[in-house]
Amino acid sequence: MRSSGGNVKLVIVSNRLPVSVVQRDGAYEIREAVGGLATAVRSFLRAVEGGKALGLSEVVWVGWSGLRAEAETEEVRGRLREMGLVTVPLAGEEVNLFYEGFCNSTLWPLFHGLIVYTVFEGRFWDAYVRVNQKFAEVVLPLVEPGDIVWVHDYHLMLLPAIIRDAAPDAAVGFFLHIPFPPAEVFQLMPPPWRSAILDGVLGADLVGFHVHEYVNNFLRSVAKFLGYKAEAGAVYAGRRKVKVGAFPISIDFDFFYNSSLREDVAAMIKEFRQRLRGLKIVFSIDRLDYTKGNLNRLRAWERFLKENPEWRGKATFIMVVTPSRTGVPQYEAMKREIEREVGRINGELGEVDWTPVVYIYRFIPTPTLLALYNVADVALITPLRDGMNLVAKEYVASRRNCTGVLILSETAGAAHELLQALIVNPNDEGGVAAAIKRALTMSEEEQCRRIEAMQERIRQHDVVRWAVDFIHALAEAHLEAQEAAQP
Ligand code: G6P
Repeated sequence: MRSSGGNVKLVIVSNRLPVSVVQRDGAYEIREAVGGLATAVRSFLRAVEGGKALGLSEVVWVGWSGLRAEAETEEVRGRLREMGLVTVPLAGEEVNLFYEGFCNSTLWPLFHGLIVYTVFEGRFWDAYVRVNQKFAEVVLPLVEPGDIVWVHDYHLMLLPAIIRDAAPDAAVGFFLHIPFPPAEVFQLMPPPWRSAILDGVLGADLVGFHVHEYVNNFLRSVAKFLGYKAEAGAVYAGRRKVKVGAFPISIDFDFFYNSSLREDVAAMIKEFRQRLRGLKIVFSIDRLDYTKGNLNRLRAWERFLKENPEWRGKATFIMVVTPSRTGVPQYEAMKREIEREVGRINGELGEVDWTPVVYIYRFIPTPTLLALYNVADVALITPLRDGMNLVAKEYVASRRNCTGVLILSETAGAAHELLQALIVNPNDEGGVAAAIKRALTMSEEEQCRRIEAMQERIRQHDVVRWAVDFIHALAEAHLEAQEAAQP
């Protein structure tokens, strides 16, 4: 990597661009993409003024627009290019077999340990290989010696090795935004696929995960399935040394901490408070996904209301779910189950003037989200498994008035950092119900002590630190690798 600054280009590669293009009534609408990856990398770039504050000459982001290739017009491509975004068009069949298939029906459930949802199909794998190659064909012409290529997430695990082979002078980093499973779970994948995936990732100079647990899982798989020496944050792959480390992803702390000072948000907070008439608010927001544990959460809420009838009419659970991966059958099934449970609970417990669960299934704009974080007395974040979970951090950061309680699954990466949350197991219905009661009755003094400690952690470890730590560690790893390669 050139160290003089000013000439180094950062090429970010992820399946999902920071925006998604949707076609509506013949027109194209460009909107912010949802999900941890897009949110985090977007906030990092905003905070460093598109890379200028880091001395980067240019930042280019390569990824999929969300449209099927047939629908991606020159005009759309041009509009995205002006935003520094380069698209990799995916044909309808590739969306089915690569995105909905190998990515979201094989890797996603397996890596979250949800084995019963995992599908292994040869044609999914073939599409995965082809599409990773296709990404390489778009990325490689953009890369010059000394540039940084930062590949993100489970969709592109073969890409680092392809780039390394074709552009050995570029620094290549890989970051996984979801958990890396224990070796015994990863072992369920057919051997040729799992070896190719590990070797693909090891094409990078630096491989990053959210927490040490995932680093250790990865190192064990590499040793077990490839026979490479893997220890203390490094893998020795033949003559190459690949660094491996934990880089907990985060948020733009100030953006959330200052949210209640924004005029639009303040107005909405006031309006919500009037309309909620003193009700205590328990809140959650997720993409619709079976990993997020919405059904368990609903049942724990129901149990809380049944065990503590004095709270009926005094507290409401606002559960926002954002549509996601609607083409994958398991997501459709989960949507129906959530709707059924919400209907059942409201039918059994609701009153003419009180709804136990307010269920919102749509994308909500940022100011509304910020207002909801501000009015929620409790955030109930109980995924079955989650690489990190940024919602937990966003909620805590938004509590400028030092009140609020976070209930958080021990199975989310964020639980490794947010130690002052009420930590629960998402399958322990009684434990979650008890935590809800504890949260709703916690003294303001205790709330503040906990919130402050967590805010301090997030303030110190914000999204800029995540990205800058990764990029610095990558530069170092690449330099070491180049020196080691000298004859
Ligand atoms: C998770 C993944 C991201 C993904 C996001 C949204 O956060 O780690 O890679 O972009 O979900 O999912 P989608 O399938 O819509 O891209």
